[in-house]
Amino acid sequence: MNAISLDIRPHEDWFQAHVASERARERENPAPLTLKEQHTANVLAHARAITAKERLSPTEVRASLLAALYHDVARFEQFRRFRTFRDAESFNHGQWGVRILKREARLADELPETRRLTLAAVGLHNRYALPSRLPEPFRRVANVVRDADKLDILRVMDETLHHPDAATRTAVLSLPDVPGLYSSRVREDALADRVAAYADLRSVNDFRVLLGTWIGDLNYATSRRRFLEEGHARHLVETLPEDDAYRDVRAHLLRRLSGGLC
Ligand SMILES: [Fe+2]
Repeated sequence: MNAISLDIRPHEDWFQAHVASERARERENPAPLTLKEQHTANVLAHARAITAKERLSPTEVRASLLAALYHDVARFEQFRRFRTFRDAESFNHGQWGVRILKREARLADELPETRRLTLAAVGLHNRYALPSRLPEPFRRVANVVRDADKLDILRVMDETLHHPDAATRTAVLSLPDVPGLYSSRVREDALADRVAAYADLRSVNDFRVLLGTWIGDLNYATSRRRFLEEGHARHLVETLPEDDAYRDVRAHLLRRLSGGLC
């Protein structure tokens, strides 16, 4: 009987060719596609690190790596056709990714169990929360991808929000970047160690707070360790203003992000 291989090289080769063909069709502005390609490589690297340390079956590990590689496979078509990465203005890119993988028969050579786990994780990776009745193996694999994705989103946001131009920061998030504007719900969530919600954001600074609360939204100890070690969340929280709106939230989050409380 063959052992489950963790070599996904043929899939990585196909993915590279897919990106190259999408890029060839995108003459106007290929830069966003390059960012997504880099993001995919980083998410796959995080997934490798998480699965190397956590207790998962070989099938779950293989599915986690495949789902990390393919989680944003629909982003390239999404940008080319709709000029945006906003799902509300185009399509649900997790579900569309499942369609692409089926259309291209990408998982036809995988074991049925690997195929099911991979497709579910791709389809669920961008949901606000996983369905409460999702069976454990599906949950474990989806959570690897969701943790790995968050770890790299932190990097992207750390780089983006340090852009010196406030107009650029606002454009990226569609949120105003002005002092004094904040959400009391986001404040309360952060102080109570809850994960803040996108729907409550009122400003770019609220978004910095939300990203800091993500330490409570990671599923694996390995992910939390990497989150703290990489320092992106701390870096983001440190740039919050020390005014009445954020002083206590900033201090509270910095204590949590120094690694002592989780
Ligand atoms: Fe995604």
